[in-house]
Amino acid sequence: MVDAPTPLEDARALSPEYYSGQAQFDFDQQHILATGWQIIAPATLVSGPGDHIVREIGGKPVLILRNREGRLNGFYNVCRHRAGPIALCDGKGAKRLRCAYHGWIYDLDGQLKVTPQMDGAKDFDISNIRLSAIEVAEWSGMIFARAGTGPDFAEIRADLDRVAPPASLDGMIYHHTCTYEVEANWKTYVDNYLEGYHVPVVHAGLNALIEYEVYDIDLTDWTSVQSAPMTDPDLYGNGEARYVFLWPNTMLNILPGRVQTNRVVAVSDRKCVVEFSYYYRPGEEKKADRDDVFSEEVQDEDRMICERVQKGLDSGAYTPGRLSPAQEPALWHFQNLLRRAYARQKAQST
Ligand code: FES
Ligand SMILES: [Fe+2]
Repeated sequence: MVDAPTPLEDARALSPEYYSGQAQFDFDQQHILATGWQIIAPATLVSGPGDHIVREIGGKPVLILRNREGRLNGFYNVCRHRAGPIALCDGKGAKRLRCAYHGWIYDLDGQLKVTPQMDGAKDFDISNIRLSAIEVAEWSGMIFARAGTGPDFAEIRADLDRVAPPASLDGMIYHHTCTYEVEANWKTYVDNYLEGYHVPVVHAGLNALIEYEVYDIDLTDWTSVQSAPMTDPDLYGNGEARYVFLWPNTMLNILPGRVQTNRVVAVSDRKCVVEFSYYYRPGEEKKADRDDVFSEEVQDEDRMICERVQKGLDSGAYTPGRLSPAQEPALWHFQNLLRRAYARQKAQST
């Protein structure tokens, strides 16, 4: 049975059955994580013709690159011969794309150009053969992509512009990326991100930095934003902390002069990897070292609590508890989007 979405005042947490199992993991990868627009990388990694990056979206290998005219192209990183990888790693200035298996060659727009030793193949017209495309978009110096169908990026962009106004991100320069492994389902990690309820209990350092009592939460169709004034100007300066979530697995943590983006990548039903990328306004890069140490401390606290929550969800002893209408609206919003996706799956399979 699929949980039905409920009003916030009646809401309970999502059932633990959705947080484990191969079939659930496969569904999430295929129908939620592959199809949702997500931050893939800073646009500066593909600034020139032939610059390319290799990633996975919902477990599907993808290749994103800049063509000769400066347009961003996205493809499945899957050769049309026998599914070999077109690119093995990120790179700069490629003139063409040569499959790493048998050497078929494509141009930067995905058109097959050269196929060695295919003499004798009847009715083999390479002019009809192209790499399969995925959708890509740029927003505020970041690349977004998805490997499936769903709402247009214009719809996502409208939501993002509202909760993370481009003016708050203008001029930010990409600094570095790091990754963290968490032994928990990807949704356990996202759930935890979507409420500040745990901040006074789990994060002593972060709690001293933001004014938790005036925590504000705003919801749009595809995003939520949690914001609070900052109380300690020493680390990041005066202003507001904005924690923006984009369904299904992207986060933008915006502090004065700095944004840190997160993408939650599901690895198995009980493991995810979170990619952190840091951007600073020019002159603010000096914050990076302290920012790294502080963010790592908060991430470690989140990792530990998520791993324990996963054990609780797996225990067989947990039935969904009530949510706090004041503190957990963003989590409720996320879990209702999940419920709708699971209900669609149920309707299609019966
Ligand atoms: S799989 Fe790409 S050339 Fe064979
Ligand atoms: Fe946290």
